[in-house]
Amino acid sequence: MEEMRNIERVEGEDRCMCINTECGGFGDDGSLEFTRTEFDKTLNSEAQQTFEKMIGGKYLGEIARLVLMKLNQLKLFERLSVDKGFVFETKYISDIEKAWGQSLTQINASASFKAQRQRKQRKDQEILTCLKLPFSLVDCEIVYLVCKAVSKRAAKLCAAGLATIGNCIRGSRGLDKLCINVGVDGSVYTEHPKFSERLKETVAILAPKCKLTFHVSEDGSRRGAAILAAMTQGRADQPKQVEVCLQPFRLSVEKLQDVSSRLRKDMIRGLGKHTHCRAPVKMLPTFVRAIPDGREKGDFLALDLGGTNFRVLRVRVVEEMQKLLKMDSKICAIPQEIMLGTGEQLFDHIAACLAEFLESLELKDQTLPLGFTFSFPCEQKDIDKSILIHWTKGFNCSGVVGEDVVRLLREAIHRRGDYDIGSVAMVNDTVGTMMSCGYRDQSCEIGMIIGTGTNACYMEEIKNVKRVEGEDGRMCINTEWGGFGDDGSLKDIQTEFDLVVDGDSLNPGVHVFEKMISGMYLGEIARLVLVKLARDKLLFGGDLSVALLTQDSFETRFISEIEEENTGLQKAQEILSELDLTVGPVDCQIVRLVCDSLSTRSAQLCATALATIANRIRVNRGLDHLSTTVGVDGTVYKKHPNFSEKLQETVRILAPKCDITYLVSDDGSGKGAAMVTAVAQRLAMQSRILEDIDGEEEEEDQEN
Ligand code: GLC
Repeated sequence: MEEMRNIERVEGEDRCMCINTECGGFGDDGSLEFTRTEFDKTLNSEAQQTFEKMIGGKYLGEIARLVLMKLNQLKLFERLSVDKGFVFETKYISDIEKAWGQSLTQINASASFKAQRQRKQRKDQEILTCLKLPFSLVDCEIVYLVCKAVSKRAAKLCAAGLATIGNCIRGSRGLDKLCINVGVDGSVYTEHPKFSERLKETVAILAPKCKLTFHVSEDGSRRGAAILAAMTQGRADQPKQVEVCLQPFRLSVEKLQDVSSRLRKDMIRGLGKHTHCRAPVKMLPTFVRAIPDGREKGDFLALDLGGTNFRVLRVRVVEEMQKLLKMDSKICAIPQEIMLGTGEQLFDHIAACLAEFLESLELKDQTLPLGFTFSFPCEQKDIDKSILIHWTKGFNCSGVVGEDVVRLLREAIHRRGDYDIGSVAMVNDTVGTMMSCGYRDQSCEIGMIIGTGTNACYMEEIKNVKRVEGEDGRMCINTEWGGFGDDGSLKDIQTEFDLVVDGDSLNPGVHVFEKMISGMYLGEIARLVLVKLARDKLLFGGDLSVALLTQDSFETRFISEIEEENTGLQKAQEILSELDLTVGPVDCQIVRLVCDSLSTRSAQLCATALATIANRIRVNRGLDHLSTTVGVDGTVYKKHPNFSEKLQETVRILAPKCDITYLVSDDGSGKGAAMVTAVAQRLAMQSRILEDIDGEEEEEDQEN
């Protein structure tokens, strides 16, 4: 789709028009002579359709044949002998490379190398036998290498053409980053085992700022004509108008750098002795001063509250094996009325679930230490004293804000009187994630969650945590980055849709950054965009359904499903039909584009925040280069088909001097809580108490 203003032959300035490049003729003026081989020259002595004849299926077999003939002439084969009448079809190339690829995966499974080698060569043998040619095993290997060279060059050349188009579109739309879909058809692409992979790899190198998603067209030639007919019924400007609507979600690298520098300043405010109470990014000390060192051991209970479910677990930490074992667990639903009821109801419900769990394991008479993952912003006074600052995500129970959550839990257990718990360690889920990954990889110093909510923690130098006494060592800080923007600092990137989502939420103005990123909100943002596009008659023929007009009817998981490379469009059709909408293929494409824009922005914003932390750790330690590991958890990160890829790519751009390894946590919230309890026990004697400075601060503030 080319901008009309660039098409001088056609009148008009607005909108785009599809241009058929006929790029097969590239090089017919001699511009590709430098790269044409003697085989290309033999095949295409007149230099017509030069580019096509180096790539297209009609010619690849013939190029391979010419190469084989030359090798024959040079007497490089052991036994193979090919003469002028020898025919080599393009499909042999696919077959041979397929056979080699398949057997490569079998290598590990099979014992005998010779047998493997023979199996690999089976297809070459079959083909050569069919052609009634004598050959040796080495000859087969040579034939394979020729095929690979010919098809690889074709994929790379094709990628060069495609990357050029991507870069041109990006340039003419003035975008920093282009995300588009490419419809593909043709037997070389669909049948060759490696062609698409090699093509994509090369495009990524040549057009690093273009994110191309490939869709293999189902009988594109015929169905495409029908789609085009539908689209051009007065709607040829549709893609452009959709793009205008999505433009506010597209953030340039410069903008992300700017957001990162705002977050950096807010983190410093959050750490400051006098500035923290009004800082939007809370930077909460967690009293976790050490990551596990492998000496932890014992049996622990763990509670996990904060996502969509509440869980109770029994975890065993085995010192010798350095393993965290989940022994038993139970999931309890938290009904909506409890999420929005009183604190007493909430903690009674938790205590009851725990009682049932202990009962079922006959553990009620034991007093086990307990790790409590409570994934909300808490001002921690010590490892077992944690004051809720405010609720986030879907919770809003009365009488808990400003109270010590550990006390509320103990009181609820005592109200029952049928069991008791030992020492308690309170943890945020980010901390749990970091700790459980830290047990596997000692360089894990960051924990990140991108699920219902989003947040991260990291190991900060104690001397920078001005509200905690001490100069030496580190402490894990729960950043609560979800609150970034709560003072209005992100107004310039909030879209009209973000404002509606925030306004309609349980806690308007709280956790603005989170509301642009996490699973609790992404689906709803998408729904609002779809409604707007339908109202503007750019989707569903302008029709809406009651279902689509209902808050939260478009679930976040739909975004992941619709973005799946091969099944996504079909899934879009199903999901939208379920929402009582009449959808055509173009609608599905547009909905997929909407999903991609939102998940990309989410990944980029998260990446920006992560890069800010990594850069801070690097500078803190005076390092030129930082290598570190981040433990990650959360459904958005884990379930979306390319969220992690998008995130990691952006981090590489924004934190080029940091080399980050991503470790996906295996149930970090649950096991991590037990781990923190174990570490806390180990370090119990060293634990320091946070000075109670809040009162003093107010006095100081008044003096100022
Ligand atoms: C919310 C909570 C935070 C938690 C995050 C991920 O942002 O405030 O404490 O870590 O969700 O669950």
